[in-house]
Amino acid sequence: MKDFLVKTIPEFLLVKDEALREKCLNTWELAIKEGGWCERSILKLPFVLTELKDCPVLLVEHVRNVTQTASMIAKFFNQAYQTTEKVDEDVVIAGALLHDVGKLLEYESKDGEYAYSQRGQYVRHPAAGGILASKNGLPEMVVHIILTHSFEGDKSYQTPESYIVKTADWLNFNYLAFTYPNQMKH
Ligand SMILES: [Fe+2]
Repeated sequence: MKDFLVKTIPEFLLVKDEALREKCLNTWELAIKEGGWCERSILKLPFVLTELKDCPVLLVEHVRNVTQTASMIAKFFNQAYQTTEKVDEDVVIAGALLHDVGKLLEYESKDGEYAYSQRGQYVRHPAAGGILASKNGLPEMVVHIILTHSFEGDKSYQTPESYIVKTADWLNFNYLAFTYPNQMKH
């Protein structure tokens, strides 16, 4: 399963700390198991169910793009501002890889249709993902990114790392909202 995950989301290899990368992979693996998914079904999972009408973007595609965006932003700030404290790029990448892993528990597939699972109607993916990551021993800074990346984080504390992932996620979401046909124009 881990080889499959790295092949599907090569951005796992951007995490330099091997122990951290392993925990990220373990978290995805646990989410796949707990959500009742398999290698085949995970590749078909959409990244949103109701927000963007007819948007064909898949969850794995979204995770890859958000991770690449967040990684670029972190790298940029680390190079652009020589006098500030450095952003932890590994934490940003790990947080981006895991920010939507809770969707594997939030969604379910029924007769080929995707819908919110029963638990997904109570626990949204940021909380579900945060719990999964915590169970797998991810550092607090990564768990924090997952917990605060959506509107749950609007009134919470942010770190430079969590703010970068939150922004990268919204940037990708809003880009699709503007550019896909049949989307509501803001
Ligand atoms: Fe996302």
